[in-house]
Amino acid sequence: MAEERKSIHGTWSSRWTFILAATGSAVGLGNIWKFPYMAGDNGGGAFVLVYLACIAVIGLPIMLGEIMIGRRGRSSPANTMKALAVEANTTPAWSLLGATGALAGLLILSFYSVAAGWALSYVFNGFQNITAESSTTSFNDLLSSPTSLIFWHTLFLSITVFVVARGILDGLEKWINTLMPMLFVIVLLLCLYATQSGAFIQGIIYLFQPDFSKITPEVMLEALGQAFFTLSLGMGAIMAYGAYMPANQNIGKTAISVAALDTGVALLAGIAIFPIVFANGLAASEGPGLVFVTLPIAFSSMPLGVFFGTLFFVLLSIAALSSSISLIEPGVAWLIESLKIKRITATLLLGFVAWFLGLFSALSFNLLSEFTIFGKNFFDATDFLTNQIMLPLGGIFIAIFVGWVMKKENVLEELDVEENFIFKFWYFSIRYISPVMVGCVFLYFFI
Ligand code: PHE
Repeated sequence: MAEERKSIHGTWSSRWTFILAATGSAVGLGNIWKFPYMAGDNGGGAFVLVYLACIAVIGLPIMLGEIMIGRRGRSSPANTMKALAVEANTTPAWSLLGATGALAGLLILSFYSVAAGWALSYVFNGFQNITAESSTTSFNDLLSSPTSLIFWHTLFLSITVFVVARGILDGLEKWINTLMPMLFVIVLLLCLYATQSGAFIQGIIYLFQPDFSKITPEVMLEALGQAFFTLSLGMGAIMAYGAYMPANQNIGKTAISVAALDTGVALLAGIAIFPIVFANGLAASEGPGLVFVTLPIAFSSMPLGVFFGTLFFVLLSIAALSSSISLIEPGVAWLIESLKIKRITATLLLGFVAWFLGLFSALSFNLLSEFTIFGKNFFDATDFLTNQIMLPLGGIFIAIFVGWVMKKENVLEELDVEENFIFKFWYFSIRYISPVMVGCVFLYFFI
């Protein structure tokens, strides 16, 4: 029966494609830029441990739930939630969850695009004769120039809009297919370089030896938010992609592959970066500039570094692009369905909103640096609001919807499984463990 239901936006051409697209959404700046700097800001091992626990215990069950909801609803997250709520005989107001998710996507895109712009600008870095000092200076120079930041932000967002306006189903597949494995190879290469850096062991210990005294409520909330962010959960991106998933694909295995690949890339990025940080006497708590300051030093001192450095930032920009596409897609699909407007109109409209908001993020590093919300500049405030609040909150509601609102027989039907041990384990996690744990982290943080 599921065979006949298809999304009006299309269906991925093969089973592989969903895995690739979802991995493309998951793997991005979150893994290579954000994970290392957050680990560094939060003291290393303790953060990494909580982060890994959040991925396994909260992220993975919710990812399965999100894919399942998406495939059953076969439309944009907002309309999917509405349809499934009606199917479960409850209020269609559940569509609000899709709507707030689309909003979270736009907000994330606004600052994501600014950081992706940094990656894009580093394609032209040159990677020659770079020292720890000169690398720090060039990054700070970039941040202090409103015109450069706005230029790269505008360029990145325009590329995103261009790709999404053409329809993400064709085109995207071929790209991710070859480029994601290439990125993986370069990150491996950087790890190899890190083993020669002289501070490899120090880096590994920093990343993997937890100092339990460092686990504070803030660290827990940051790790939880990062788990949602890196897996693209809690705002409908994975749900929107699930709507294009062929009916005969196993959701459980798929979710595990995506989460494993995503976590693998983040850990490898950390393994590559921290030894370089320590070998060059840089601070692990450098903040958002960490990757942009450390990696150029590595590239400038390795053989063929200009080539690898350029290629790395090209690939990082593309990884960011395949994530940014999924940030805007839930809203675009929703506008197309609800307002019956063309894809290009919907994309331009939402792209403009994200671009406009992004201007404030770009300027928060220079002209507007004095302007703060709860002590955070605009960039950090948007990041906090979305990743630490909106995504985990969206996740709680998704878990409640799957575990308590949907009829169990429909869940079983869509997952195409028997009520076996693994199912029961997952069902228990999504009904109790995920919502309760997220709730506890919130309470712990706010009280
Ligand atoms: N997961 C992406 C990354 O790690 C970012 C993202 C978040 C994409 C939420 C979609 C939804 O870069």
